[in-house]
Amino acid sequence: MGILSTRKVGMLLALFWMGTLCYFWLPDHIPDFLDLRTKSTVKSKLDVLPKIHKLNHLPLQVNVKQLNISAGPDALDIVHVCITSDGKTLGGMIALINSILTNTKHHVKFHLVTDDDNADHLGLWIQTSSLKGIDYEVKTFPVSWVTGKIKIRGGRQELGSPLNYARYYLPRLFPDLKERIVFIDDDCIVQGDIMELYKIPIKEGDLAAFSEDCKGMNKRLSRLSNVYAEFLDFKNKHVQEKNIRPGACSFNTGVFVTDLASWHRENITGQLEYWMELNTREEVYGNERGGGGSQPPMMLVFYDRYTPIESLWHVRFLGWTSGTSYSKSFISHAKLLHWNGKFKPWGRVAQHSDVWDKYFVPDPSGKFRPVRRGRGLQA
Ligand SMILES: *[C@@H]1O[C@H](CO)[C@@H](O)[C@H](O)[C@H]1NC(C)=O
Ligand SMILES: *[C@@H]1O[C@H](CO)[C@@H](O)[C@H](O)[C@H]1NC(C)=O
Repeated sequence: MGILSTRKVGMLLALFWMGTLCYFWLPDHIPDFLDLRTKSTVKSKLDVLPKIHKLNHLPLQVNVKQLNISAGPDALDIVHVCITSDGKTLGGMIALINSILTNTKHHVKFHLVTDDDNADHLGLWIQTSSLKGIDYEVKTFPVSWVTGKIKIRGGRQELGSPLNYARYYLPRLFPDLKERIVFIDDDCIVQGDIMELYKIPIKEGDLAAFSEDCKGMNKRLSRLSNVYAEFLDFKNKHVQEKNIRPGACSFNTGVFVTDLASWHRENITGQLEYWMELNTREEVYGNERGGGGSQPPMMLVFYDRYTPIESLWHVRFLGWTSGTSYSKSFISHAKLLHWNGKFKPWGRVAQHSDVWDKYFVPDPSGKFRPVRRGRGLQA
């Protein structure tokens, strides 16, 4: 009797042991009763993309999506986002992508533009990091499109980077895309649901939506008076012919929503090129306090033909000073943060760079590293 019961106990122990092994070895076939099999201990802290992993790897969700094809016009909506970056700011593009995906449950397709030198680097970064599996395409910007058209008169030579002008050429870069697209500068972080911005109603006859400079918080922090006179030379006769009010509110071109079909129809690219070229021959813009770069031609072309974007969807000037100018609680309510100015969140000092750090995905090749004073940002 004693021997038998020892045997029984031994067999029970063996069964229990095998069961435990199966529980951990074949996790997908046995339900996780005890919630023990959490993989988060293995996952990197920076692997903050649970939503993407679910969307791409759970067949159940894909089926739900397919079932819903006939369920209504909203069911199939894809948000198209364009971001442009060169080698110096590539990490900004990565953090921005991650922030958009972390804060939406909608399908986002990324249309990424960079230069010849960085296309492979970008592809590798996405493919070998937690961003693997996102829906994206990479285009290299043909610098020849803007050769001889850029003339920077003010001090900020970095505004002359050809990639800054890629936003002028959206229909030429993406000829198959006829729908709406959101353009976002690579020194931004999105904290709201991108679908809300994408769906903004654009007034009939308007060509895009931009955030105005003279409204709400965005005004207070800028030392400019936020009007067209800060950006254009009103002595120029071509500018005068446009009948623009010098005191009209300026807008920021770092974030906009537009319909590519109307952009194409109205020859926006041709109009922007016209002003760029004219500015190389005569003074149209660039000597004013607002500076040159890609902003003034857009202000000329979109004058009086844009719908305002709500100010929480473009909280800017975070890069204007190194010190904190917004409170932590205001920052937490903003839907989009923009570090325009000199102090980038991947640089030595910048305000609220902790928000940016949350979304940064380290570069597996180690080429791009945020600079931090007194502390390293390690994976
Ligand atoms: C299908 O879409 C509608 C509205 O878009 C939603 O209310 C519904 O829950 C969806 N159905 C499934 C099965 O997900
Ligand atoms: C587009 O606009 C530019 C500048 O105004 C003009 O030179 C060009 O001919 C236009 N192209 C078309 C197809 O209308």
